[in-house]
Amino acid sequence: MIIRDYRQGDFLQIEDLWKETGVYRSERDDSPEVILRCNAQGGRFLVLEDETNNKIIGTSWLTWDGRRVHLQYLAVLPSQQGLGYGRKLAEESMAFTRNKGSSIKLEVHHDNIPAIELYLSMGFKILEGYEVYLVYYEA
Ligand SMILES: CC(C)(COP(=O)(O)OP(=O)(O)OC[C@H]1O[C@@H](n2cnc3c(N)ncnc32)[C@H](O)[C@@H]1OP(=O)(O)O)[C@@H](O)C(=O)NCCC(=O)NCCS
Repeated sequence: MIIRDYRQGDFLQIEDLWKETGVYRSERDDSPEVILRCNAQGGRFLVLEDETNNKIIGTSWLTWDGRRVHLQYLAVLPSQQGLGYGRKLAEESMAFTRNKGSSIKLEVHHDNIPAIELYLSMGFKILEGYEVYLVYYEA
């Protein structure tokens, strides 16, 4: 397995992976264009790939708002979970953040125990008392 940067042509596999892992939301309107735009603004999109068959088995999307890094779509295909790949992607994501000298923030559903356990073990601390609010506008 290798961790590499997102390449043009990856998106269909990535969308399938997000659907299979339950992190996909159509209303987010994520697309190859959004990934390229976020990367141009200082973000990074990591892909975990099985080089033997070029299958994408994991993702970690790091966006940069000019102030801090946001970690999104950390996901590993169900058939490959529990093998240490999620931690590898998280470690690479933290290394990217450390190199920027930035903080890193994420949102996780309170029922998502595997992800919470991983984040806690990587040093993330919960922001007690906060709720997440959001508005979607039509493009
Ligand atoms: C969260 C996720 C990325 C972890 O990936 P993974 O490859 O299975 O994780 P790893 O094998 O690297 O395990 C890393 C740590 O995660 C935690 N973890 C993983 N699976 C777990 C489980 N079933 N129960 C509790 N903790 C678990 C453990 O702390 C584990 O460390 P350990 O092996 O030293 O105990 C994976 O479960 C996933 O893709 N989930 C669906 C998508 C998702 O919800 N992503 C998070 C969005 S916020």
